[in-house]
Amino acid sequence: MIITKILVTGAGGQIGSELTCALRAIYGNNNVLATDLSESAYEKIAAKGPFEILDIMQPERLTEIVRAFKPDAIFHLAAILSAVGEEKPNLAWSINTNGSINVYDVARDNGVKRIFAPSSMAVFGPTTPRSNTPQDTVLQPTTVYGMTKVIDELIGKYYIKRYGMDIRGVRYPGIISNVTLPGGGTTDYAVQIYYDAVKYGRYECFLKEDTMLPMMYMPDCLKGTLDLFHASRERLIHNTDFNLSAFSVTPADIVSSIRKFLPSFEIIYKPDFRQDIADSWPDSIDDSCARTEWDWEPSYDLDAMTQDMLRVIGERMK
Ligand code: NAD
Ligand code: SER
Repeated sequence: MIITKILVTGAGGQIGSELTCALRAIYGNNNVLATDLSESAYEKIAAKGPFEILDIMQPERLTEIVRAFKPDAIFHLAAILSAVGEEKPNLAWSINTNGSINVYDVARDNGVKRIFAPSSMAVFGPTTPRSNTPQDTVLQPTTVYGMTKVIDELIGKYYIKRYGMDIRGVRYPGIISNVTLPGGGTTDYAVQIYYDAVKYGRYECFLKEDTMLPMMYMPDCLKGTLDLFHASRERLIHNTDFNLSAFSVTPADIVSSIRKFLPSFEIIYKPDFRQDIADSWPDSIDDSCARTEWDWEPSYDLDAMTQDMLRVIGERMK
């Protein structure tokens, strides 16, 4: 299948802002249309290619944009993440489920050949095996965000079966990056800690020091996303729901790693409502199906990521 033009929803977010640039490097700046709710997203990525303001809750506007741009593929990244989802459950229900259906319907009706739509480790809950969580296992999340991601995985499977669509997705762990700040998740601490380490030499953490969660550095997130998107469909047994993992860390592990480069770094722990969310998620994930079906392999471990994060953020703050 030849893909030449791509539309990205939620392109101004933590992942979208970097994925859009990675896609433009492959497909050409003018062949990747970035869309998001706001002008601020426009300012970040507009210079490198086309941008349209798009609320995925407006299917007529989405149809208009898709008919004008004629994408072969959509990367559907617009979503409400876990912490904001607990504060605004109705918004999360609506955008994460009805918004996805809008995107899939418009794609189906306008000849879009492939969709990549991320899921999350948030599909797992307290009744799921917590360590080395298997690919095909109990999905009983206790957060609104997690529930919507389970539904999204199932909606994707339904559209594959009923309409013959090609929809793919991974269950990202917490993504750590240094271009765009995260948009309201539980793993956000693992990004902010690096910014505060460089800027203030200290950080107040909203999770307990021993809260182990799966994490991944953005270059691996982009690699995994693009590798699954480009994988041969014949090899794929799974589709919308691949487990994906790089390494698992606690806040204390990140502190130790930062102190290798900034020995005087200080931390205090003040857990808030996000602790309950984190406690419902796995501490490590078995991603062997991704490794077998499309050759997934991460490159970064914690110290390699820490060194790069501190370097990039430090240079930016000079
Ligand atoms: P983000 O919050 O940084 O970005 C989401 C973007 O969606 C924002 O720019 C926002 O403006 C946009 N958006 C929100 N509502 C919209 C609407 N109605 N119409 C159009 N755009 C809208 O999120 P992210 O971290 O970039 O996440 C991208 C995808 O990856 C999401 O599906 C998320 O669930 C998934 N994911 C992310 C992580 C992570 O750690 N970042 C982990 C697991 C899964
Ligand atoms: N990083 C995301 C969150 O914390 C996980 O999907 O919400």
